[in-house]
Amino acid sequence: MITTDRIINFGAGPAALPEPVLRQAQQDIWNIQGSGIGIMEHSHRGSLFDRILTETETEIRALAAVPDNYKVLFVQGGASTQFAMVPMNLLPKGRPADYLITGAWSKKALKEAKLFGDARVALSGEDSKFTVIPSANTATYSDNPCYVHVTTNNTIFGTQWKSEPTVPDGVPLIADASSDIFSRPIDVSRYGMIYAGAQKNLGPSGIVLVIIRDDLVEQGPADLPTMFQYRTFAKERSLYNTPPTFAIYMVGEVVKWIRDSGGLSAMAERNEEKAGLLYDFLDQSAFYTATADAGSRSLMNVCFRAPSTDLDAAFAKAAVGRGLEGLKGHRSAGGMRASIYNACRREDVVSLVEFMKEFEREHS
Ligand SMILES: Cc1ncc(COP(=O)(O)O)c(C=O)c1O
Repeated sequence: MITTDRIINFGAGPAALPEPVLRQAQQDIWNIQGSGIGIMEHSHRGSLFDRILTETETEIRALAAVPDNYKVLFVQGGASTQFAMVPMNLLPKGRPADYLITGAWSKKALKEAKLFGDARVALSGEDSKFTVIPSANTATYSDNPCYVHVTTNNTIFGTQWKSEPTVPDGVPLIADASSDIFSRPIDVSRYGMIYAGAQKNLGPSGIVLVIIRDDLVEQGPADLPTMFQYRTFAKERSLYNTPPTFAIYMVGEVVKWIRDSGGLSAMAERNEEKAGLLYDFLDQSAFYTATADAGSRSLMNVCFRAPSTDLDAAFAKAAVGRGLEGLKGHRSAGGMRASIYNACRREDVVSLVEFMKEFEREHS
């Protein structure tokens, strides 16, 4: 379907959502499943929402082949709350936790963990200004850490782990997968816990998907505030309090869209192709520079620069004039960033490359 009243959104998050999902949501906001009530107006205790919640969980389990000994939870407070909730529940006094620092979000996760216990840096890419993901072999792990924390995709600097880092035997790997969840196949059994704010690849902001192994659910101190315990969400099926019902509904619709689009392998193929179009163009250009190290490049956030900061600013402005939004890089990284999550279409990337060619011709 051709949408004439929408522009192309390359924003890092909240990000573009799939058109069929938005079209369906438009109807369901008014009247879902013939109930005469919109999705946002249904009680979270009612049978219709209960079905949606169950279906969303079932779809996620099927999509990512989530093993039976993991819980699928919907938690509020954004991924930033997980930065604290993880150590509150899983970092007891007297044992360290190791953090792999590959960008601004991992640093924030570490900072929160330090409020609760002995959180250490096992690996850091800060020397390269986070343009490189150091090899996992160079990580120096503590003796018997209670977990290792990784940020799978670094939204701001445009780098991504190509595969799970190896961690000491038996140590749970905990992943912040906010900006690449379900963009490629994932072997859940290699993680103790995966969390992801929804607003890039899963739906609207306001909800965090948590996939957590059963034994970790039970590890948290029972005297934490109720809403900060994973066991509360596990026991009450994420319905202890009023959850963001619309956000959960949207995650369900997005996950069904991924399924109908061929699942996680198909997403990976599409994402590789889209990112390839951009990186190939950047690599042959004498005008633009891709800022991430070639071996660490993200398929989700493609960061690049023009030859000067003035041209960077001119690029972002001219792009908006052409209906290409959200390309200005994060304030801490500068340059440009094209966020090309699952919902970004191949033709959107082609339009961007065409514009980049034109801008290069005009300014070189
Ligand atoms: C990798 C990563 N982790 C965490 C966050 C923080 O998420 P939230 O704003 O939902 O707290 C973001 C936000 O962009 C992110 O990209």
